[in-house]
Amino acid sequence: MHHGLAYGSELHRGFMAAVLEAQSVWKIYETGSNRVEALRDLNVSIQNGEMVAVMGPSGCGKTTLLNCLSGLDDLTAGEVFVEGSALFSSGDRVRTRLRAEHFGFIFQSFNLIPVLSAVENVEMPLQLAGIGKTESRERALEALNLVGLKDWASHRPMELSGGQQQRVTIARAFVHEPALILGDEPTGNLDSKTSEEVMQLLFRLNKEKGTTMLVVTHDADIASRCNRILHMEDGRIIKDERTEEE
Ligand SMILES: Nc1ncnc2c1ncn2[C@@H]1O[C@H](COP(=O)(O)OP(=O)(O)O)[C@@H](O)[C@H]1O
Ligand SMILES: [Mg+2]
Repeated sequence: MHHGLAYGSELHRGFMAAVLEAQSVWKIYETGSNRVEALRDLNVSIQNGEMVAVMGPSGCGKTTLLNCLSGLDDLTAGEVFVEGSALFSSGDRVRTRLRAEHFGFIFQSFNLIPVLSAVENVEMPLQLAGIGKTESRERALEALNLVGLKDWASHRPMELSGGQQQRVTIARAFVHEPALILGDEPTGNLDSKTSEEVMQLLFRLNKEKGTTMLVVTHDADIASRCNRILHMEDGRIIKDERTEEE
């Protein structure tokens, strides 16, 4: 488990650290004479077990937010804390380790490695975490079983449907029991029936395993089934909405 840092000693927080906390985050892209303020003094705190949707018009900074919150991209200013640990001021090696341990990712394009089988793709985060071959294989198969793909373990991504591929990426995202799963329009490339199956799987993981999730979506129906909706506009969260739980 990676929750040993929950009772952080940092002065800036209270009794229990949030899973994720962004403090005064700025992200400015400067290319030539062009300057885009993609994130503008953004603050947000995500609590353990929350299922959070991010909505907003194209170009408002949703992808940038996910990339910055997960340490994939550098910040211009501000800091992000994951379970109480600073992501950016701790140096590259710590950042890489924090990323590997605490985050799982689900992208719109499935980002599976084509030459690896489903189970080999799912094993990746475990091997990055230094877990041995036998245990990695066992846990990866367990994860594939949980997403309903037990019988597809040895198939390569090309041999799977879009929905199946996205379920492989979901298995890969939670196999190492991350504190937080980040999804950037995870159903954006799927038909509505498959989208619904993939979302049901994410909701189930949130409920049964308590995995905290932050998911960008254009689908108001999906968003309304989350505990919380962050509405973005022009690099800011303009509304932080708590919804009724299902
Ligand atoms: N690598 C980049 N270089 C320059 N500008 C970028 C880059 N990535 C995103 N942007 C700009 O930042 C803003 C936010 O983009 P993005 O986060 O992709 O929005 P969204 O995901 O909400 O559609 C947009 O104006 C976009 O053009
Ligand atoms: Mg985007």
